[in-house]
Parts: sequence; C-alpha cells; structure tokens
Amino acid sequence: MRVLVTGGCGFIGSNLVRLIRAIRPAWHVTNLDLMTYAAHPDGLSDLAQDPQYRFVRGDIADGPLVQDLARNVDGILHLAAESHVDRSIVDAAPFIRTNVDGTRVLLDAARRFGLRFLHVSTDEVYGSLGPTGSFTEATPLAPNSPYAAAKASSDLLVRAYRETYGLDAVITRCSNNYGPYQFPEKMIPLFVTRLMQDQSIPLYGDGGNIRDWLHVQDHARALLLSYENGRGGEVYNIGARNEWTNLALTHELLRLMDKPHSLIQPVTDRLGHDRRYSIDPSKIEQELGWFPTIPFTGGLVKTVAWYQTNAAWWRPLVSQASLARVPADADGSNDDRSPACAS
Ligand code: NAD
Ligand code: TYD
Repeated sequence: MRVLVTGGCGFIGSNLVRLIRAIRPAWHVTNLDLMTYAAHPDGLSDLAQDPQYRFVRGDIADGPLVQDLARNVDGILHLAAESHVDRSIVDAAPFIRTNVDGTRVLLDAARRFGLRFLHVSTDEVYGSLGPTGSFTEATPLAPNSPYAAAKASSDLLVRAYRETYGLDAVITRCSNNYGPYQFPEKMIPLFVTRLMQDQSIPLYGDGGNIRDWLHVQDHARALLLSYENGRGGEVYNIGARNEWTNLALTHELLRLMDKPHSLIQPVTDRLGHDRRYSIDPSKIEQELGWFPTIPFTGGLVKTVAWYQTNAAWWRPLVSQASLARVPADADGSNDDRSPACAS
C-alpha cells in the first residue's frame, strides 16, 4: 500500500504518520506538507532515513505537484489545513485557499487516478449545541467560524465528488484533540506553556463553553481504521464522550501544575464562540470497533509532563503563537487581552 498523507508535519498528521510507520511497516508513506507556522520545524527528520517514508515540501493547492504525487499512490489521507479558529477570524483567506481549494485539487487528483480518499473533517462543521444532545453523523452542518465554514465546504465537496463521480471517499469528524506536539496557540498547550512560565492564562468569556476532548493517538488510530475499513460514502464521528467546560479544564490544569487560580485572566470572548460540542461516536464504535484507549486524566498528566520536558520544542514557537485576536468590542478596544492574545 502506498499512501499520500497531507499535513503530515502537523499535530495530528505527525502522530498518524508515526502510527502508520509503526504498525503498517510494509506501507510507503509520502508526506506532503507546506511547512506553515503550524508544522513541526524539523519536518519529522527522525524518519529521514526510513526508506518507506518520503517528505515533500509543497502546497496541496499546487495542481501539477499533487497530480504528480497522486499517480504513484493507492490512496490519500487528507489532513492538511489551516486549523486555528482565532486566526480564521482575523483573516479567512488562507482558510479558503487551503481548506477549500486545496481539498478540491486533491479530490481532482483522487478522481483522475481512482484513489481511496480519507477526508479528515471536524465536529466544528456541525456548529454549536445547547446544553443537551450530541452531534450524530446526520446532524445538519451549521458552521459558525470561518475555519468551520471552510472545513464544512471541503466536507461537502468530498460528498459531491462521491455523488457525482463515485469517488471512494470516507469522511471523519472528530472532537477536540490534545497531546504532545500540539502548537502552543490551542487552549491546552497555550495554557500549559504559559503556566510553566507563571504567566496568566486567557480564558475567553465566562469559561462556560464546553469541548469534548480526545487524545491525538486515539484519533490517529481511528483515522487509520476509517481509511482501511470505513465504507465508501460514509461519515464517521470520532470522540470519547469527554466533555469539559473550559473553566473546569482550566482548574484541572492549575491543580496538576500546582499553580494559583489568580493566574486565570478572563478576556473578551471569541467572536461567534461556539458554546458546546459533543460527539456521539456510536457509529464508529459499532461499525469499525474503535474505542478510545487513553483515559483523559492520565492523558492530560502525561501531556503536561511532555510539555515540561520538551521546552526546547515549544519555546521557539511561542512568539508565533501570539495572535492578533479580533476584539469583540465595537469600538475596537481590546484592553483586557492578555499578552498571549496581543498582536
Ligand atoms: P495543524 O495546524 O497542527 O497542522 C496542519 C498541517 O497542515 C501543518 O503541518 C501545515 O504545515 C500543513 N498545511 C497547511 N496548509 C497547507 C497546504 N496548503 N499544503 C500543504 N500542507 C499544508 O492541524 P491539526 O490540528 O494537526 O489538524 C489536522 C486536521 O485535523 C485538520 O484538517 C483539522 O481540521 C482536523 N481536525 C483537527 C482537530 C484538532 O483538535 N486539532 C480536531 C478535529 C479535526
Ligand atoms: P481551541 O484550542 O482554540 O480549539 P477550538 O476553538 O477548535 O475548540 O479552543 C478550545 C476552547 O478554549 C474554546 O472554547 C476556546 C477556548 N480558549 C480560551 O478560552 N482561551 C484561549 O486562549 C484559547 C486559544 C481558547
């Protein structure tokens, strides 16, 4: 089996590439990654001598390059994306280009060469839930952020290529991931790395927003399984039934790291901030036999420990993680932004 993985130098992609190399040793993996700010700076250099692994630095929106790579593989596992909601609120353009047009380029190549296509979507395409209920695969798409809208657009393009051309495509929609090598602009690594430096942690709004957390290695296993055994044309939700308010999770991080609550800095809420995500993973559990294996408390302890022992990895990235968040205030004032959110 020869596969093209896109975004293999990102947080989830790198975990997936390592999983494939570990448990599918006969497979050949080509990793196409543009090496944006979010990529591992060393580009998985530890795999450089692996004859079954090839890294190509390039853009998924580059048609000739993608066609060239696609003619030599059996399938595509597509993870490359602009992935951070706050950045999409500042500027949606790269999100449309990569997430929508880049996906279209890959789909055209998959269609031309008759490839299997795994599209890695997200639960954010479903929008926001009230206090009860969970997203199923039949929940209508109602994205609220430019990031989620771009992901929903690509998700629908995959569906259209399946319906129109009979493309052998599977879509997965996963909940929030955590674990090692996550870029320190996302909530958990941002908070952990700031707490390590005794800096304040910017909690958006009232902290009551709910996210459903899954360890990245459990997600990677679900992706490989969906690629190998998922039914063409199907969507699979992925999640661990593990909902936390941001405030409760913040308290848990403070407890694990033995830091004072005074480091919590309430800041202006994210624009259009989705209140609650909750994934119903019954379909992938029943159909593909996937279940999460890493309990959240243990996974979180190990993740905190990973950031504590790998400061050399995240320290150079922290300056790039200082985002230009759009102030919610109509007058453009942003006085309550923490240093982490200042441009
Ligand atoms: P990430 O931001 O950590 O990594 C994205 C990778 O894609 C980077 O290596 C980047 O260099 C690469 N990339 C960006 N634009 C590219 C382009 N035009 N051409 C080639 N490569 C490009 O993202 P992640 O958190 O690993 O997410 C991976 C996928 O999983 C995304 O599609 C995302 O929507 C989806 N997802 C993420 C989560 C999560 O919690 N992180 C949850 C569900 C789904
Ligand atoms: P994030 O990690 O950006 O993931 P997503 O927006 O894809 O869910 O954010 C997770 C939650 O944490 C979300 O409700 C927003 C909140 N959050 C903060 O309160 N402060 C922060 O600095 C960040 C980045 C996120």
